[in-house]
Amino acid sequence: MSDSIIQANEFAKRRQDLAEMVGPNGVAIIPGASLQTRNSDVHFPFRQDSDFWYLTGFDEPDALLVLAPGREQGEAVLFCRDRDPERERWDGPRAGLEGAISRYGFDDAFPFSDADEVVPGLMEGREKVYCNLGKQLAFDQRVITWMNRLHQGHRKVAHPPEQLAALGHTLHEQRLIKSCAEIKAMRQSAQLAASAHRRLMNVCRPGMSEAQLSAELMHEFHSQGSEVSYLPIVGGGNNACILHYIDNNQVLRDGDLVLVDAGCEVEKYASDITRTFPVNGRFSSPQQALYEVVLAAQIAAIEKAQAGQAWLAGHDAAVNVIAQGLLDLGLLQGSLSECVESGSYRQFFMHKTGHWLGLDVHDVGDYTVDGASRELEPGMVLTIEPGIYVPADCTDVEERWRGIGIRIEDDVAVTRAQPDVLSADVPKTIHEIEALMNPSKAA
Ligand code: GLY
Ligand code: MN
Ligand code: MN
Repeated sequence: MSDSIIQANEFAKRRQDLAEMVGPNGVAIIPGASLQTRNSDVHFPFRQDSDFWYLTGFDEPDALLVLAPGREQGEAVLFCRDRDPERERWDGPRAGLEGAISRYGFDDAFPFSDADEVVPGLMEGREKVYCNLGKQLAFDQRVITWMNRLHQGHRKVAHPPEQLAALGHTLHEQRLIKSCAEIKAMRQSAQLAASAHRRLMNVCRPGMSEAQLSAELMHEFHSQGSEVSYLPIVGGGNNACILHYIDNNQVLRDGDLVLVDAGCEVEKYASDITRTFPVNGRFSSPQQALYEVVLAAQIAAIEKAQAGQAWLAGHDAAVNVIAQGLLDLGLLQGSLSECVESGSYRQFFMHKTGHWLGLDVHDVGDYTVDGASRELEPGMVLTIEPGIYVPADCTDVEERWRGIGIRIEDDVAVTRAQPDVLSADVPKTIHEIEALMNPSKAA
């Protein structure tokens, strides 16, 4: 962990902060992820649970964190797999109980297989048990069993916990505000994804397949030691109008645009970037007209990513620019206020302008407080991603607009000053994109 961006002391500080919120009358229980079977002896790639990772930096399956504030023998207790030379020969090394303490800084450690015996004792004498129910059914059942044991049978105690409390809100507000080290990891993640997007603009030619572009993304991510943060979207022509298109298996045609929505992870922090560019390196004039509208909307929304602005201000700004642009180009009719109030623009722009970004690509944290859009604060990171999508079968508009889907997405950190665009290394204007794609003809 010594050359990691997020150091052991930052993970420890997060546990201390959470322990303070839980208080001496509470106990928090946070399970790690388990390996998921794909078939027979084959598993899906392991990805640690983001809440658990945030508090531990521990990347093995079958682990559980118990935070018992004020516990005499130490409050941060990890349950993990014991060392096992035979299994480690097949599956790779394990930290074991000693490693959990010496390398990861936990106060105490027990074998994962002993959790059913030990955890009820850690809950004893505390009023509230904090955990996230509803995510893993097997974990929910274990927590109920541990509670029951303290209320009945041979483990019955004088003061069993009376309340189960949701941990999510407290922990997720903590995750929403990023530290300097987290912003550094997210900037690296965005820079790595940016280099992958530039690579695609360099190699893209008519006749290539979406799959080839997707492979170029993977090459860049994997060769730099990173993983995708979600399944990439590589949609040529009309496929860009399918918002969650992941087939990525069609031929890229001369004259079409291609929409690429792809990001990766650095120390599990996600980037999430979209660029839309012409397969042959030159925008046609209808593509150019719609692209300029989306770009203006995106720039207007980024302007609003400032401390003190409402979360929804960016979306409202993007909606105004897109609705006005679609009116000017004749894709919508009426006045701007009619289009915005009736929502007629949603025929072509049907999603919100962004989401929180962090350890999850659609990261945790509330978007509203007491029913109102929450204020942005320094340390929040969000995506800004307006789009216009005109499907090929949309007979409400002139033919030249059909089969064009455009989205432009950047990752933006809110600071005390101007918005910090973490993904600024990917060309975004028509001039920049065409210059990258046509190097010999660049002015
Ligand atoms: N890539 C998922 C999203 O943009 O929300
Ligand atoms: Mn995206
Ligand atoms: Mn996104």
